[in-house]
Amino acid sequence: MLSASAAVLRAGDQPYTIEEVTLDQPADDQLVVRVTATGFCHTDAVARGPELADGLPMITGHEAAGVVEWVGPDASGIDVGDHVVLTFSYCGSCSQCSENHPAYCETFVERNLFGRFATGGSGATGSAGEPIMARWFGQSTFATRTIVDARSAVVVDRDLPLAMLAPLGCGIITGAGTVLNALGVRPGESLAIFGVGAVGLAALLAAKAVGVESIIAIDLHPSRLELAAELGASATVLGGDNDAVLEQVRKHAGQGTHYSIDTTGVPDVILSAIHSLRARGTCALVGLQVGDVVLQGTTLAGKQLVGVTEGDADPTSLIPHLIQLWRDGQFPFDRLIETFPFTAINEAEQAALTGRAVKPVLIMEQSG
Ligand SMILES: NC(=O)c1ccc[n+]([C@@H]2O[C@H](COP(=O)([O-])OP(=O)(O)OC[C@H]3O[C@@H](n4cnc5c(N)ncnc54)[C@H](O)[C@@H]3O)[C@@H](O)[C@H]2O)c1
Ligand SMILES: [Zn+2]
Ligand SMILES: [Zn+2]
Repeated sequence: MLSASAAVLRAGDQPYTIEEVTLDQPADDQLVVRVTATGFCHTDAVARGPELADGLPMITGHEAAGVVEWVGPDASGIDVGDHVVLTFSYCGSCSQCSENHPAYCETFVERNLFGRFATGGSGATGSAGEPIMARWFGQSTFATRTIVDARSAVVVDRDLPLAMLAPLGCGIITGAGTVLNALGVRPGESLAIFGVGAVGLAALLAAKAVGVESIIAIDLHPSRLELAAELGASATVLGGDNDAVLEQVRKHAGQGTHYSIDTTGVPDVILSAIHSLRARGTCALVGLQVGDVVLQGTTLAGKQLVGVTEGDADPTSLIPHLIQLWRDGQFPFDRLIETFPFTAINEAEQAALTGRAVKPVLIMEQSG
C-alpha cells in the first residue's frame, strides 16, 4: 500500500490540512516519486474557486522535484533513484503532442485540471475511506509521494538542488517559454510585462538571457518591481491606474513595444497590454483571465493576440535548456525562490497571494 502525507484541500475557504492518505496503485507506464520539494503556483489557488468545488477534497500542487522510487514495466528511460522534475500531463500521441506541442495536448484540460474526473479513479483515499482527488496536473504534489506518468518526469543531474528545480515544471517554463517559444523575442526588440510575479519574472529572465534590453515591468507591488529592476528590467512602472501606466510605457518605448505579456488576467490590464504595443506587435495572454475583455473596432488594428499555455513548452527540452542557462549564470531563477517547510503550506500560500514571496517552494521532510 502506497501512503503519503498530503496537504488536502477540503473546502475552498478552508486552510489545507496535512493528512495521511493512501495512493492508488500506479499503472505500468507510471512512476512512484518521493517528492522532496514543490513550488506554489498561483494556479493552485484556482482550485479554491467555485468551478472546481465538485472536485474537493483534492490534493493540489504541480511543481515538484523528487527522487524516483518505482518504475513501471512500460516506462522507459528512467531508473529508480533518478532525480526528476515533474511537469504537466499530456497524452504524447495526439496531433498536438505528435507535433511537439504537448502544452496544447487535445486532452490537456481534462488531464491537468479535471484529470481525476476523466480517469474515473480519484487517485487517493483518505483515512475514513473517502476518495481524494489526486491527479491535479497529473501530479498532486502537495504530498510526500506521488504517482505520475513517466512522460511527465524530466531526469536532471543529481548535483543540482531539487528545491531550486521544483518550480521549473510550471511557473518558470511558462514565463520563459512564452518569451523563447511563443513570442520568439529577439535582441533589439522591446517587451512590456504586465505582472511580475513568478511567471512574469521568468519571462524577464528569459528575455535577458537572449539579449533583449528594453524590458518594461509593471506590477502593483513595489518589492516585485525592485526585484525586476535588479534582474534587468530597463524600466519599472507601478500599476493600478491604466492611463498612467500607458503613459509611462509610451515614455519608455515611444510608439509602443514589439511584445507584451499579461500575467495578471485582469481585463483592463489586458487592454493596457494590447494598447502598449506598437503596430504589428504581439500580446501574449498567460494569466488566468478573471473576466471578459471587450475589444473595440480598432483595439487590435495591426496587432496580434495569442493565448499561451505552459509557455508552449516541450518540457523535456526546455527544462534542461533552462538548467544549462542557470549553470552558465544567464538565468538566475533561484532569485525568485523562498523556501518554506511543507507544514507551513498555508503560510506559503498567503505569502504568494499577498505578494510577499514570489515563488514559495515547500520542502518535504526527507523521511516522508
Ligand atoms: N497559461 C499558463 O499555462 C499558466 C501557467 C502558470 C500560471 N498561470 C497563471 O499566470 C498567472 C501568473 O502566475 P504567477 O504564479 O506569476 O502569479 P503571481 O500572483 O505571482 O503574479 C501575478 C502578478 O500580477 C500582479 N498584478 C495583479 N493585478 C495587477 C494589476 N492590476 N496591474 C499590475 N500588476 C498586477 C500581481 O501583483 C502579481 O505580482 C496566474 O493567473 C496563474 O494562474 C498560467
Ligand atoms: Zn496529446
Ligand atoms: Zn502552475
